[in-house]
Amino acid sequence: MNKKITIAIDGFSSTGKSTIAKLIAKKYNYIYVDTGAMYRAVSLFAKQHNFVGNDFLDKEKLISNLNDISLSFKFNEDLGFAEMFLNDKNVEQEIRTLEVSQLVSKVATISEVRRKLVAEQQQMGAKGGIVMDGRDIGTVVFPNAELKLFMTASADKRATRRYKELLDKGDKVTFEEILFNVEERDRIDSTREDSPLIKADDAIEFNNSDMGIDEQFERICTLVDRKIS
Ligand code: DC
Repeated sequence: MNKKITIAIDGFSSTGKSTIAKLIAKKYNYIYVDTGAMYRAVSLFAKQHNFVGNDFLDKEKLISNLNDISLSFKFNEDLGFAEMFLNDKNVEQEIRTLEVSQLVSKVATISEVRRKLVAEQQQMGAKGGIVMDGRDIGTVVFPNAELKLFMTASADKRATRRYKELLDKGDKVTFEEILFNVEERDRIDSTREDSPLIKADDAIEFNNSDMGIDEQFERICTLVDRKIS
């Protein structure tokens, strides 16, 4: 029987981590966890409770209310992946808006938030057979993961992908806003003190600026097959 391993996928925003992670999870019948969705759900909670204003986040209030945040994933058969629930409400759509994207990197700098989410992520992956994507999976959440991938692509390519996704959903955004958000999140995520976005020494880097999804999928499956057999 094949081994059930842990696959950590880290990288910059909008590098297609979740697309590839979902495909891998489906092929190997693994659980897929989008940890970015968890940070986004905490950000949405902060917004709903008015801990956020223009250019302002009340970190202390958010920290003191962390125990009131319950996060869960529920698998949606039609979509083929698990959707994010915040206090038992499906927030999968709400957490993907530009407004939440503009807040989430700030929320993700808070150590108390990270400790809560990292503990939940470690519990979800305790038995292996998991594909988890984020920023600190191979460095902090599962430093012993059997396979670690680090995804990169040019900011321009990433912003173009994200812009198309949001336009398709009917959001009114400009390309410049999206590019600014992608670059700003890269900057905050890579320079924060707690668990900054860095490539783990043993992670394999994938620059997918000019690599299609089929090629990435094929290459990653080869890596997984080697690890599980
Ligand atoms: O993957 P994403 O773009 O949905 O992630 C949203 C934000 O959450 C990202 O800007 C940084 C933060 N994040 C993090 O700090 N650590 C993770 N493991 C996942 C996401």
